[in-house]
Amino acid sequence: MEYVIGADLGTSAVKAILVNQFGEICGEASRPFSIIEPHSGYSEQDPREWAEKTKEAVKELVENHRGEAGEIKGISFSGQMHGLVLLDGQGAVLRNAILWNDTRTTDQCRLINETIGEARLLELVKNPALEGFTLPKLLWVKEHEKELFDKAAVFLLPKDYVRYCMTGRLHSEYSDAAGTLLLDVKHKTWSSDMCRRFGIPESMCPELVESGSFVGRITPEFAGETGLLPEVKVFAGGADNACGAVGAGILHDDTALCSIGTSGVVLTYEKDPDQEFRGNIHFFNHAAHDAYYSMGVTLSAGRSFSWFKDVFAKHEAFDALICEAENSRPGARGLLFTPYLSGERTPHADPDIRASFIGMDSGHRRADFIRAVIEGITFSLYESIEQFRAGGKKISRVISIGGGAKSEQWLQIQADMFNAEIIRLKSGQGPAFGAAMLAAVGCGWFPALEACAEQFVHVKESFLPRPEFSERYQDIFPIYKDIYRYTKPLNERLAFLRE
Ligand code: XUL
Repeated sequence: MEYVIGADLGTSAVKAILVNQFGEICGEASRPFSIIEPHSGYSEQDPREWAEKTKEAVKELVENHRGEAGEIKGISFSGQMHGLVLLDGQGAVLRNAILWNDTRTTDQCRLINETIGEARLLELVKNPALEGFTLPKLLWVKEHEKELFDKAAVFLLPKDYVRYCMTGRLHSEYSDAAGTLLLDVKHKTWSSDMCRRFGIPESMCPELVESGSFVGRITPEFAGETGLLPEVKVFAGGADNACGAVGAGILHDDTALCSIGTSGVVLTYEKDPDQEFRGNIHFFNHAAHDAYYSMGVTLSAGRSFSWFKDVFAKHEAFDALICEAENSRPGARGLLFTPYLSGERTPHADPDIRASFIGMDSGHRRADFIRAVIEGITFSLYESIEQFRAGGKKISRVISIGGGAKSEQWLQIQADMFNAEIIRLKSGQGPAFGAAMLAAVGCGWFPALEACAEQFVHVKESFLPRPEFSERYQDIFPIYKDIYRYTKPLNERLAFLRE
């Protein structure tokens, strides 16, 4: 029996899984990391820590499966998107990576819009200028850390840096490059126009490959340090959301994906590169060949829940907290939460908005607060679904992955609120599983991802909307949506108090 490894470089941890030719997950190892937040809206991590922790996780996986180590044939990656890693000419890291949920770049986004115009930007790169994307971060470094920028020889996205550490080879692939604002998404080339307009030397953009491309073998050092054989083949991998979609079998246009990790996303598969939605829906290349996906993003989804737990219930288990929400009821007895802890993307591209609890009453118990947080995250994702439906998409079946899919209660809330069938998969591993599928196809186990998905991806159970609860959520949703409008000016006035 042969095996592959899928490694997912998330925001809170890296996870590596070992998968056999039947698609069974035979082992798992992970290492956590934290976010460095020197100021409100700043979010950074040290890329060297990513590489080190990924190595540790792979090593643990191999040690726990010593008997099979010689049969591990390939590895591929999934990774948090948009983060900026800058390397000098010797391949050394020049500064901490600036992450996808960092919102310091509002001025740079304004500059991009003023220089090129919003319509032309959409023509060139299919996406609007948003704080989280990579080009605004490059421009921020260029403006605020000019000396450092001048030393930069290349920029990389997070998982591409980790792969570079394993292979010594520099590449970018389309699904992640799409989130930089420098990729011509339709024609799959770096946009010379964008590079020229913003003074980014094209030599800083790494060679582009497909997600499934074989990009080399692991270095003898990496093999020595982890116990893998040096023959192990490395495949490029994809953005975490693209890999989450692959791992959930979102390879045709009949099912949407809802993924709740640190961020939360709703995405749909697209074949047509000219598909357009309004309302800050992103449009990126899929990890599957010549396909795309549209996506709405809640910046602080799982992060809102872990924030709540850290601050108010540090020593309790996630599962127990989620179960406690059952002691409340839909609408949390009049308590609503908006998950804007570090601004928002969809449908409000707003780096300055902050979260709220609205409607606190002396009768509220902790269960109501937990329920309000879960419902607020889910309402926010429902706003993305609403955008898709308004754009003509029929969303009646949603595969749910990530932390939000671990709890039956939360899956039922998704079904009731989205008024759609919610499906939980057997694998439950999301992006890491998609990365393993890229390696499985790369190793020649299957001719294409679709065939791999047939063998690997299986439905575990499904949750149907309950009409009386759906109606209740339909009554609450307009109130939830109004919170943004009413709290925006208040948050603007409070901004001077944030550090
Ligand atoms: C997507 C995005 C997030 C990160 C999280 O645009 O910024 O979903 O990929 O890892």
